[in-house]
Amino acid sequence: MTDNEIRTIGIIGAGTMGSGIATAAVAHGTAVLLFDRSAEQLDNARRAARSFLARQVEKGRLSEAEAAAAGDRLRPVDALGDLGASDLVIEAVFEDFDLKARVFEDLSGELAAETLIATNTSCLRVDDLAAHVSRPERFLGLHFFSPAAVNPVVEVVSGKASDAAAVERALAWCRAIGKRPIRCRDSWGFAINRFFCPYTNEAVRLLDEGLADTATIDRAAEAAFGVGVGPFAVQNIIKPRINLHAIRNLAPLGAFYAPADGLVAQGEADRPWPIEGEPPPVEAVPPQLVDRLQGAVFIAVLELLDEAVAAAADIDDGARFALRFTRPPCALMDELGAARVAALVQPLLARHDRKAPTSLARVGSLLV
Ligand SMILES: NC(=O)c1ccc[n+]([C@@H]2O[C@H](COP(=O)([O-])OP(=O)(O)OC[C@H]3O[C@@H](n4cnc5c(N)ncnc54)[C@H](O)[C@@H]3O)[C@@H](O)[C@H]2O)c1
Repeated sequence: MTDNEIRTIGIIGAGTMGSGIATAAVAHGTAVLLFDRSAEQLDNARRAARSFLARQVEKGRLSEAEAAAAGDRLRPVDALGDLGASDLVIEAVFEDFDLKARVFEDLSGELAAETLIATNTSCLRVDDLAAHVSRPERFLGLHFFSPAAVNPVVEVVSGKASDAAAVERALAWCRAIGKRPIRCRDSWGFAINRFFCPYTNEAVRLLDEGLADTATIDRAAEAAFGVGVGPFAVQNIIKPRINLHAIRNLAPLGAFYAPADGLVAQGEADRPWPIEGEPPPVEAVPPQLVDRLQGAVFIAVLELLDEAVAAAADIDDGARFALRFTRPPCALMDELGAARVAALVQPLLARHDRKAPTSLARVGSLLV
């Protein structure tokens, strides 16, 4: 054990994410002080953790004694002031800038100088939130993916002010609780949503253009990236409303990232996509569909590389472990080669009047 080790964390917000993060942490030996303004949410989170731990016992992954000890590591608290013993505090309240800013302002005085502070925001900028933290050098993003109790991926997001040692400490803790951290710089959509959003968005454009139905486009994604669950089915899991919100968040990046008309309609109505009928086998999917999905993802990934938001290997880990792409984008581009990748991205770049990413020149050795 070193002094740098994170043994106790505080979590603010015991909803979907806070409760999942707490469960992952206690299951791997970290003590958790959990705060929510709703006592009911705290009760629900404690119940969810206990039932997760009981399932781990049934599956033979934990002994009864280990599960009981893990359950005891989760301690609900009544006030932000009770989080003072934390080595790291993770904020997971509603996705609302002013609310988060207020939480950070209230929190800063309650913590020791060396306590790390993290936000689980999906769409806000770490640098914008950092302005509300008393020592921004100890502040970073820890973006967990749902369901956080089991999804291995966490984007560890450095803001401009984040201290390198603070980031290393957070990375080490993520590994200690069994996660696969993805190192990235603060940017719209961080590393994974930056290409996941254009992927689902391009799928809807194909539908809007009448080129295929949802089931066939989902099958095309299987051909493109080896996914078991295609872009329409996955939107139904995360909810079209949430997907639209994530895509709208990328608006500052230009027209290529703007939401498809069908996605706006479906997202605003928060209606699931109908996925009906028997799609063709994967070998018989129209190649144009596969090309468009690959082209859209490749543009976003090459731009991520241009902007040095994340390394190619980390982007592929995110695709593999958070999105279940069995053919992750950087490895796939290297396999297809520069000429083929250029042919896939050029029509979309022309359509959206976007300049070619300079990383195109590195295709073939992105992962070297
Ligand atoms: N749900 C997802 O799939 C997902 C994935 C990654 C990141 N996120 C992000 O995680 C954060 C939380 O999302 P969620 O889905 O868990 O939300 P949620 O609505 O399930 O939970 C939010 C919780 O915050 C509590 N809360 C609100 N204001 C509070 C305050 N001032 N003090 C203490 N508690 C307060 C609420 O009572 C609620 O229990 C958001 O920033 C979201 O964007 C969500």
